[in-house]
Amino acid sequence: MKERLLNSALTVGGFEIPNRVVFQPMEGCDCEVDGRPSTLTIKKYMRAARSHAGLIWFEANAVCPEGRTNPRQMMLTRENLSAFKALTEEMRAAARAEGVPSPILILQLTHSGRQSITPMIAYRHPIYEEKRPVTDENIVSDEYLDTLPALYGASAALAIEAGFDGVDVKSCHGYLLQELLSAFTREGKYGGAFENRTRLYLDCVRAAKNAMPKEALLTTRLGVSDMIPRPYGFGTDESGNLDLDEPDRLISLLQAEGVRILNVTVGNPYYNPHINRPYRMGTYTPPEAAEAGLARFAFAEKHIKEKFPALAVVGSGLSYYREDLIERSEALLLDGVCDLVGYGRMTLAYPNFYKDEKNGCFDPKKCCVACSKCTALMRRGRVSGCAVFLDHYRKLYKESDV
Ligand SMILES: Cc1cc2nc3c(=O)[nH]c(=O)nc-3n(C[C@H](O)[C@H](O)[C@H](O)COP(=O)(O)O)c2cc1C
Ligand code: SF4
Repeated sequence: MKERLLNSALTVGGFEIPNRVVFQPMEGCDCEVDGRPSTLTIKKYMRAARSHAGLIWFEANAVCPEGRTNPRQMMLTRENLSAFKALTEEMRAAARAEGVPSPILILQLTHSGRQSITPMIAYRHPIYEEKRPVTDENIVSDEYLDTLPALYGASAALAIEAGFDGVDVKSCHGYLLQELLSAFTREGKYGGAFENRTRLYLDCVRAAKNAMPKEALLTTRLGVSDMIPRPYGFGTDESGNLDLDEPDRLISLLQAEGVRILNVTVGNPYYNPHINRPYRMGTYTPPEAAEAGLARFAFAEKHIKEKFPALAVVGSGLSYYREDLIERSEALLLDGVCDLVGYGRMTLAYPNFYKDEKNGCFDPKKCCVACSKCTALMRRGRVSGCAVFLDHYRKLYKESDV
């Protein structure tokens, strides 16, 4: 095995992450209707467990039924807890059987807000509403928002019971907690001033922290910019350029709350998908070169890493690199851009990429081609997986391509 920073352990709090490889959260829309993992979901996570990755970041898990994007979104509850517990135990056993330490397991907690089955929006957004029309009736009340920290706390407590090492209070990709960050035009305690727009996110982070044992890992996936012009975007100026002043203020507050790992992401997959996941091919024509998007990610991550050296930063958006993935990841680590390297689509296409690399049998032909057909499956209301390399999803993609 080559000497690489990628293969080295990283200590965060009381946890040792065995290497720097992170499986990013990848929603499969394939859970049972009660929110527990189905056979398909279990297959995906068992593949992940055998991959030798250091950290597996579970997909978006709704904290309440009305916050689900689809009827098959993951949702851990008291009633289905044993199914999650069985899965985390099997995953740890599978890693041991591979002769590697158990990966760290994080559950991503979410409320889908505008993308819920019935849209629950923070404020009227002229840009998003071109795609999904809503009315004032869809605006969530302050009283409703007041109830959410308790739900995040309850889900965090359940996650620990289910065998996770910690949780992610998700605030990215336009879902509720992130939409509130740009609620400049909302009135009341959750809109307008920075303190109001960040209030619910910080309350949910605090609730999750207080509900878990002190040593549990508190993490967050933060969309540091949705690249939509202010006042309808966060982390941008009026022209839509990246502006990290407010994200910096927010990250400093998150760190003070005890967040230890910050998974950095950018963009809104429903509005500007190329920003969140650079494309190599497919039917969507991105308005910028993929390299520009990758440079934006690296810039934002390095900026955060330099300002907050004690935070473990996870880099995103890397599947585009294909056969160069390992070398590019190593370069990001060596350049101090991030501490952990996150892979999304690559984990669906070629879950063993890291193990194969370590064993000297990495196969470039198996790499994700960054076409985002997996996302198209989700948008078509199907279960999601790699529609290029896995028969089951390739068939579904063909059938739904009308
Ligand atoms: C099918 C699909 C499902 C996704 N599900 C989630 C999710 O549940 N939570 C999340 O934070 N991001 C999700 N993402 C975004 C990925 O985690 C990742 O940030 C993105 O794909 C860019 O990384 P990549 O270039 O390595 O794929 C999803 C992306 C895809 C394509
Ligand atoms: S469908 Fe497969 S190859 Fe295409 S982006 Fe998704 S994971 Fe990669």
